[in-house]
Amino acid sequence: MLPLRTFIAVDIPPSIQQAIQEKVNDLRRYAGETVRWVQVKNIHLTLKFLGDIPPSGVEELTRMLQTEADACPAFDIAIGGLGSFPSSKRPRVLYIGVQAPAGLEALQGAIEAACSRLGYESDPRPFSPHLTIGRVRGHASPDRLQKLRRALEETTIDSLGTVRVDSVHLYKSELKPGGPLYTELFSAPLHPIITRSREQTANETPN
Ligand code: 2AM
Repeated sequence: MLPLRTFIAVDIPPSIQQAIQEKVNDLRRYAGETVRWVQVKNIHLTLKFLGDIPPSGVEELTRMLQTEADACPAFDIAIGGLGSFPSSKRPRVLYIGVQAPAGLEALQGAIEAACSRLGYESDPRPFSPHLTIGRVRGHASPDRLQKLRRALEETTIDSLGTVRVDSVHLYKSELKPGGPLYTELFSAPLHPIITRSREQTANETPN
């Protein structure tokens, strides 16, 4: 059986994907050719890139994801800000920022550690949550790169809203000529946030 290219990610709702698209439109028009832009429906928050795995590995990954997700309470992340890796002087990956509570790092760390126990290679880079919106083409000329740097400097993207992270997903990625096709293989709900009503709290007797 052919290997599957897979990764684990948090979904970004279409309303936020659309808001990103609108904010990035000017940048796209200005620096279009220099960058391979991510299709708006493909914008996501990667927690772990697994690469090629044997199809027989999917089952243990789904079990692992279910266990780790169930141990992690749902949380909110805030989306906003434009940045580039490895630096603004040498932009290779363009991204929208993610401001997250400690819960996201805990979840990602738990998934990374569990994948390592299953024999998957660990990523030595520290986790840096982001939403990739484009990748600079390898053959971009110095002139075009300069133009892109200027455009990045002149673009400000403020807060685009918050996302409730209440599930994580295992995706299959197929590299097609028109861009990657992501197909969800499995979805694991996080531990629900239990919000207690004022009445419940008032009725509780202190110990
Ligand atoms: P990123 O955009 O957050 O960098 C699916 O391919 C996702 O896996 C990509 O969106 C990318 O997330 C992440 N990824 C991490 N390492 C990768 C690699 N070596 N090759 C392809 N994708 C990778």
